[in-house]
Amino acid sequence: MSRKIVVTSALPYANGPIHMGHLVEYLQTDIWVRFQKICGNQCLYFCADDTHGTPIMISARAENITPEKLIERAHKEHEEDLKNFYVEFDNYYTTHSEENRQFSELIFNNLNDAGSITKREVEQAYCENCKMFLPDRYVLGACPRCKAEDQYGDSCEVCSGTHQPTELINPHCATCGTEPVRKKSDHYFFKLADYEKQLKKLIKDGYTQKSIANKLNEWFETGLKDWDISRDGPYFGFKIPSEENKFFYVWLDAPIGYMASAKNYCDRNNLDFDKLWNSGEYELYHFIGKDIMYFHALFFPAMLIGSGFKPADKIFVHGFLTVNGQKMSKSRGTFIKASTYFKHLDPEYLRYYYASKLAGGIDDIDLSVEDLVNKTNSNLVGKFANLASRSGPMLTKNLNSQLSKLDGPGKKLIDKLASAKDQIISDYENLNYASVVRTITALADEANRYVEQNQPWITIKTDLDKTQTTLTTTINAVRILTVYLKPILPKFAEKIEKFLNIDPLKFTDLDTVLENHKINPFERLIDRIDKKQVDAMIEESKETQNIEPQTETSGEPIKPECTIDDFTKIDLRIAKIISAEPVEGADKLLRLQLDLGDTKKEVLAGIAQAYTPDQLTGKIVVCLANLKPRKMKFGTSEAMILAAGPGGKDIFMLSVDSGAEPGQTVH
Ligand code: MSP
Ligand code: ZN
Repeated sequence: MSRKIVVTSALPYANGPIHMGHLVEYLQTDIWVRFQKICGNQCLYFCADDTHGTPIMISARAENITPEKLIERAHKEHEEDLKNFYVEFDNYYTTHSEENRQFSELIFNNLNDAGSITKREVEQAYCENCKMFLPDRYVLGACPRCKAEDQYGDSCEVCSGTHQPTELINPHCATCGTEPVRKKSDHYFFKLADYEKQLKKLIKDGYTQKSIANKLNEWFETGLKDWDISRDGPYFGFKIPSEENKFFYVWLDAPIGYMASAKNYCDRNNLDFDKLWNSGEYELYHFIGKDIMYFHALFFPAMLIGSGFKPADKIFVHGFLTVNGQKMSKSRGTFIKASTYFKHLDPEYLRYYYASKLAGGIDDIDLSVEDLVNKTNSNLVGKFANLASRSGPMLTKNLNSQLSKLDGPGKKLIDKLASAKDQIISDYENLNYASVVRTITALADEANRYVEQNQPWITIKTDLDKTQTTLTTTINAVRILTVYLKPILPKFAEKIEKFLNIDPLKFTDLDTVLENHKINPFERLIDRIDKKQVDAMIEESKETQNIEPQTETSGEPIKPECTIDDFTKIDLRIAKIISAEPVEGADKLLRLQLDLGDTKKEVLAGIAQAYTPDQLTGKIVVCLANLKPRKMKFGTSEAMILAAGPGGKDIFMLSVDSGAEPGQTVH
């Protein structure tokens, strides 16, 4: 009996690009979905962009566009990136949709009717200049414990201590620098503890992997607290019914986005959503990273139970990606975007590599660049592709592309390969792709040994029949390995299917063999990685160099002449540096706020190795005031300050201490 399954991956935030870390999840899920499909099961895969919340609103403001525009652009980019990696959704939707609004309101109202919503006053940081409440991450100040400057309102990155935004020394709004005030407002809360019993039962019944269940028990012991599900405007999200200026917190409507994506699909495909989600006819699974466990193991299932919907049968939690053993880093060039990877390397290398690393647990997985090159070249190219490329051309050239029949030893090899089927199916089902890859590699070794022993390149000169039998076996080995690899390498499999002149392969094809059959000419399957491609990718992932000082100037030819007219276009003004702060992820940049008398400007200056923020604050400098604002990775730079030098520590800022006034023209 074939199964009916609904699968989701966590919804990526709309205010950032898809990167190698995300891909762990989307590839893990996609491989599982493809596996289910070639087993003959019906499997629907839903996802969407997570589009609401303060960071998205603020990013849009910084770019001077509406949040709607920003999320529309992100949607296109995300969809394109994921498609390039052969992640195949049945629906890739958005949380900013009518379906999602309706479900969010319905679930909220049902929970309210069930008595699980309460309202109470909350005191929070508020910026009177920005006219908004500031989430913890939008209040900066010095750590109350270790006094480190520029720490977030919730925790200190230097001493790792946690605190309240109110405890910061010299707190200021991250957007405008104003000192926030305390302000009260009413918030809605979801009474999570009402569902403790049901949640415990869910987890006892196998809602998560075992290692996660232990973590959850810790949470139960600490006690389940009410969850704050509302935010005051301005906020990009869904307005709470019957409220003027209150919105659902993004994490309320985000997981409901899974349902909205499914509903949108159902409506377009004549399916009954209620049957799909609630009837039990479909199994339901969420794939997520370990950082968002609390939401998927507690809040979301409790909300569903409380509002009369079925929670998932199980969540599959994976660990985090490190690159070369460390956290992804922009300066090391290991914060690799999907789009950057795609420019330099074949996505199937990564699919294969991640598969070889994923074993179904929550351990972090490491992308070692060297290992990626080695595994690809020795296994993917050296073992699988090689098996096909050493048999196909010979058949076409010398044997009219015609397969004959298996002989005894050939049959034995093929039976052996096919008998791994149950093990491989069970490993896929349990997300142990690492084991799948190990099994397949061992089988490929065996098939390659068979070819070595039978030496078709020698027998071709003397015994065509024997050679044809050898190659028929080899091709059948290729066919079986391709079935096994197909969830991981869909494109590779498609090329083999074309080459073998057969219909799309499924697991049931393992019960038959390919004999007396004509194949198509062999075409290249996959190339070896050249280390240079990887280096180029890492180089391109490094922090954009263009705004940073040149370090290698000697030997550069002098640029073409410019005239005095070019120079008169420049408007130089006196400016006072009101504040200076480091830019996270860019170790050469400082973010400066300049006072130019009538206006203020923000500048991203490449002088962080020459000056500390303290040395700059309060300084009077000369600024290029009419420079066209430039959008950069970390924000928009609206001017330049006069500073020059060979680079690094050797940059010298023109500092004016003559009593000049901000805004004054200089010549
Ligand atoms: N928007 C939320 C999810 C809402 S689901 C209702 C979110 N978005 S995210 O873009 O930060 O992450 C999306 C998924 O990618 C999450 O499951 C997250 O765990 C995963 N990963 C993001 N970075 C990752 C790594 N570096 N490594 C592995 N997975 C990572 O969370
Ligand atoms: Zn502010």
